[in-house]
Amino acid sequence: MKFFSANLANLRELYINQLQMLLSTERQLVVAIPKMIEKASDLQLKQALQSHLQETEVQATRLEEILRQTTGEVETVKSKALAALVEEAEDMIKDASDESVRDAAIIAAAQRVEHYEIATYGAVRHFAQILGESTPAQLLDQTIKEEGHADHLLTSIANRVNPSADRAAA
Ligand SMILES: [Fe+2]
Repeated sequence: MKFFSANLANLRELYINQLQMLLSTERQLVVAIPKMIEKASDLQLKQALQSHLQETEVQATRLEEILRQTTGEVETVKSKALAALVEEAEDMIKDASDESVRDAAIIAAAQRVEHYEIATYGAVRHFAQILGESTPAQLLDQTIKEEGHADHLLTSIANRVNPSADRAAA
């Protein structure tokens, strides 16, 4: 993306708005993840969610610091997409009565959230780079790496919890 300097003020507004939306995302997750931990049966899944909950708290703090440095205050703009993902996750989990199916639903829901976060953080990191905000760009990059790691861990748990059809039949 190339931006003329006249557009940078608007890009800065979009950048701040998206940081506030990401903070709303992380704060909604701090409430949602414990419910997923409670409903999960597989021990490794519970542990992965538990450690991602701690990472999520750090990620929220990182955003608060960036917002404080950038705007002098910490405000949020509600992420409607995350609220919808959480609502959909609750429905999927509620409808699964079998333990392993419920774990599969939890993993599917959690991975959807990770991908949403990776996409959103990726764009915001790019905005930070264009605006010359190098320290925030590095902090956002750290969060993207953590989200990617959480996603890969969930994939490996899914492969073990839900073996493919031929392995399940064996
Ligand atoms: Fe996160």
